Amino acid sequence: MKVKNIAILVSGGGTNLQAIIDAHKAGKITNGRLALVLSSNEKAYALQRAADNGIESCVIKKGSNRDEFSDAILAKLEEKDIDIIVLAGFMHILSGKIIEKYKNKILNVHPALIPSFCGEGFYGLHVHEAALSKGVKVTGATVHFVNEIADGGPIILQKAVYIEENDTPETLQRRVMENAEWEILPRALDLLCNEKLSVENSTVKIKE
Ligand code: GAR
Repeated sequence: MKVKNIAILVSGGGTNLQAIIDAHKAGKITNGRLALVLSSNEKAYALQRAADNGIESCVIKKGSNRDEFSDAILAKLEEKDIDIIVLAGFMHILSGKIIEKYKNKILNVHPALIPSFCGEGFYGLHVHEAALSKGVKVTGATVHFVNEIADGGPIILQKAVYIEENDTPETLQRRVMENAEWEILPRALDLLCNEKLSVENSTVKIKE
């Protein structure tokens, strides 16, 4: 089985990137190489995490044209012979060309139980604000394949997190990350690197 070259796309703090780095070091992600961290923001702390761990990184900023942005990303992914893409707090929607070329090879982590609180406009803290104002008692995180619909691709793993009485968007965000995102994202990546995921009728099957 080919060892997969993994690119992690980030825009911010990169705690999910860190969870991937830590799991990789601990031998929990096998058959994959952390080949590239690509950031849309030159100030992202995720770039420091990449440097601290000897992972190559680059910055590609989004201008006014989404297709040009996606084309520049695709060129970089091809140059580095990337097999798998992880969107780890990447705050942009990719264009059709990347999605076509990397069908069922792009993972995204979303901080809610899809199909709740997802789609355009639901990112970062906004997701937790929406969950708290709706008054849901349970939220969580989802890892899914990326397709042309925002947060609409086949679901791979989900984990629930209970809302607590005095939660603020910030405390809830932190708990969802710690208890759900940092666990299910590395696990899904390991499954994909080891070719244990298949998609039938929009449903993901896990071969254990
Ligand atoms: C994470 O909570 C991630 O799920 C969310 O942004 C945060 C990034 O944190 N992503 C989205 O909302 C995408 N729709 P990080 O940079 O520390 O990993």
